[in-house]
Amino acid sequence: MKQLRLALLGFGTVGQWLAQALHTQQVWLQQELGVVVTLMSVGTRHHGLIYRDDGFDIPTLLELAATRQPLTAYPSATHWTNILEGLQLTGGDVLAEATGATLRHGEPGLSYIRAALSLGMHVVTSSKGPMALAGLDLLSLARAHAVQLRMESTVMSGTPVLSTIREGMAGTNIRAIRGVLNGTGNYILSAIAEGRDYAEGRAQAQMQGYAEADPTDDVEGDDAVAKTLILATIAFGRALLPAHVVRRGITTVSSEQIQQTLDQGQRIKHVSSLRLLSEEGMEVSRAIANSGSMPTRLEARVEPQALPLSDPLARIDGLLNAITIQTDTSAEVTVIGPGAGRFQAGQGMLADLIAIAKGA
Ligand SMILES: NC(=O)c1ccc[n+]([C@@H]2O[C@H](COP(=O)([O-])OP(=O)(O)OC[C@H]3O[C@@H](n4cnc5c(N)ncnc54)[C@H](OP(=O)(O)O)[C@@H]3O)[C@@H](O)[C@H]2O)c1
Repeated sequence: MKQLRLALLGFGTVGQWLAQALHTQQVWLQQELGVVVTLMSVGTRHHGLIYRDDGFDIPTLLELAATRQPLTAYPSATHWTNILEGLQLTGGDVLAEATGATLRHGEPGLSYIRAALSLGMHVVTSSKGPMALAGLDLLSLARAHAVQLRMESTVMSGTPVLSTIREGMAGTNIRAIRGVLNGTGNYILSAIAEGRDYAEGRAQAQMQGYAEADPTDDVEGDDAVAKTLILATIAFGRALLPAHVVRRGITTVSSEQIQQTLDQGQRIKHVSSLRLLSEEGMEVSRAIANSGSMPTRLEARVEPQALPLSDPLARIDGLLNAITIQTDTSAEVTVIGPGAGRFQAGQGMLADLIAIAKGA
């Protein structure tokens, strides 16, 4: 039986869901994959890193979290206040990183992911910040250490988009990607299309728990820009900066514009798009771009767009997200699914972990 020693950083909504799933699925993992996943260390902002060489009993950890006791109360656990120090000393086979890393500088996830890859650990992460700001560097660090770095939950929260691009569509020449990538923004736009104004749509999203008290990242496009940068890395192998993305938030669209567009048989959606262009502005495929036969650039935009109803993205309503991938070799492929939710994010991490377990 293969052993997979797991370090889990972040024991909040997503981290706890993943731990619970690993516990529930342990027999299946052993029988189907021949893998025993042992949770060796857990790190949080308030409790530092706890470690147990024999592994933790997951229900006991979840009970500590549920009853708001410190994780350090776990019997006979070794404790480090400094997580990086503890991680360097205890290592493991895989790091599951689910901290609340920011989109501004990617920390704390960025340092944790770098440290784990440098230690030769595989990494699965649900944090957008590190992947958006340093995705290509991190992937090359992973390659240098012959380990995998997977991040399914960072785009469309675990709906299998990145694995569709990386594995399902391996070998295709992607020309362009378009997506509705923020659930909150799409929920508000859908509410406006149903006759509410922006303030009512936002209040409704907040009341349902779909929008933060300050929804700026969602409605001004920061969240969608981060996901667009991750797609630029995964689908096109290019490192773009946030400043490279042309960005307009949904607050730039009036309720009147949305209603007028509806009357014309169209829908306004907040669309993220990436396409490879020649110097003359012609769309080209990744194969041509990679051949170096002509200079190309990757155009990245996040902006409200009026779409005809025949466009699959036009019919994505509420919290649903979707992504359409255009290639040289197949017709457009569209993936539709939830763009948020702890179940989906945890599931994306679990799927990444299983992909690593299969290859490990
Ligand atoms: N929830 C979702 O639907 C969803 C979907 C897709 C992606 N994500 C991403 O997944 C990540 C985790 O989300 P979440 O909803 O689980 O967040 P959360 O409930 O706020 O939990 C965050 C966890 O990270 C820990 N943490 C924060 N700063 C840390 C630090 N410096 N060092 C170590 N641990 C630290 C927190 O510790 P304390 O408990 O001590 O504060 C907490 O355990 C985020 O990057 C989020 O963007 C979430």
